[in-house]
Amino acid sequence: MVIIGAGPAGLLLGHLLQRDGIDTVIVETRSLEYVQHRVRAGVIEYGIANFLEESGVGTRMRAEGLVHHGIEFRLDGVSHRIALGALYDGRAITVYGQQEVVKDLIAIRLSSGAPLYFEATVTSIEGHTTEHPSVVVATREGDVEITGDYVVGCDGSHGVSSASVPAGVLRRYERVYPFSWLGILAEAPPATEELIYCRHPRGFALYSMRSPTLSRLYLGVSPEETLDQWSDERIWEELTTRLMTDGGASIAQGPIVERAITPMRSVVVAPMRHGRLLLAGDAAHIVPPTGAKGMNLALADVRLLAPALEAGLRGDPRGLDSYSDESLRRVWRAEEFSTYMTQMLHPHPSDDFENGVQLARLRQVVESEDTARALARNYVNLSSL
Ligand code: FAD
Ligand code: DHB
Repeated sequence: MVIIGAGPAGLLLGHLLQRDGIDTVIVETRSLEYVQHRVRAGVIEYGIANFLEESGVGTRMRAEGLVHHGIEFRLDGVSHRIALGALYDGRAITVYGQQEVVKDLIAIRLSSGAPLYFEATVTSIEGHTTEHPSVVVATREGDVEITGDYVVGCDGSHGVSSASVPAGVLRRYERVYPFSWLGILAEAPPATEELIYCRHPRGFALYSMRSPTLSRLYLGVSPEETLDQWSDERIWEELTTRLMTDGGASIAQGPIVERAITPMRSVVVAPMRHGRLLLAGDAAHIVPPTGAKGMNLALADVRLLAPALEAGLRGDPRGLDSYSDESLRRVWRAEEFSTYMTQMLHPHPSDDFENGVQLARLRQVVESEDTARALARNYVNLSSL
């Protein structure tokens, strides 16, 4: 079996299949160093955290991950706590960096000796509808062809898998939002114990963290903006202004050790299969990050796909036949929730009708327990509902 991409989806799939005695080859275009230090997601849902633990890859996540039973919404300088646990059977999210999940999965893979090739780029996929699909991999030593029973595209939003499918087979649904996120990682102690999602007239802000000494913060910015327009001083000033409360609570500052601007968009590719090519994770769907769903969805795809592939190898095609429809139901729910969160928390630069609707939506969350409960279920566990 050929797996393209060593992100959370490809690595977990490789682990689950190897554990059950199925040979896999993982090829990754980036270096080991790059993949382990790529700072991205941080929120792991309740059911996905349990699944990582059941899969034997959750030991460090359980030891070092931060368990959160609530989040804050900050509106007009006032904080409102959403008691996720109290609203949803005591369930919680785990804050644990995506690159830590990736490091844990790579450590297991390397110690098992199963093949994992870095700086190896899949340039084409052939024979999707034959019994033996293959990939061409460009390496420093030249091109190599690898053939397998199946090829699984876990190659993220800029990968080659979905593009390799002949025109007319897949449909692509897409929406671009008029915002980007400027994300930083800073050596500063988190100011609060829980995540803060903030809607301020100047734009969105999010306070998150990775450890007692590392803060992870985001600012909603216009899609035209570039990193060279954001000095450290300007970033801290803007975060402080947006996150300030009426009581004067401010945020701790420290050296910024990582920064990036990510455009916000939604993509769904359907179906998530063409013959013996299967798609999983960002290769098939992107959500705007406001709902914290991207990595969770990627791991939920793999939770469904691994047993389906195992059954397929034994001659039982049912799991593979239903994989796409079943995944897409979850994906569209996540698109809905992520759109809802995005359109509640990012003030529109010019459309004040939209802004009126956004504020009404946010007030409903902080004032109505029923609305908060629905949000809590989706935030904490959408991928396992
Ligand atoms: P990726 O992690 O993108 O992995 C794909 C891999 O394939 C990459 O390593 C890539 O180098 C490799 N690749 C690509 N092309 C090729 C090729 N041709 N040949 C070989 N290898 C190739 N999600 C959450 O759940 N919670 C959050 O809190 C959250 N916050 C986020 C914040 C930000 C700022 C961003 C940008 C994303 C966030 N996400 C979040 C989304 C999450 O990071 C992604 O959904 C997740 O990385 C998807 O995993 P994946 O394995 O599908 O894809
Ligand atoms: C983080 C990222 C998100 O997209 C989000 O909604 C919450 C937290 C984070 O990186 O910690």
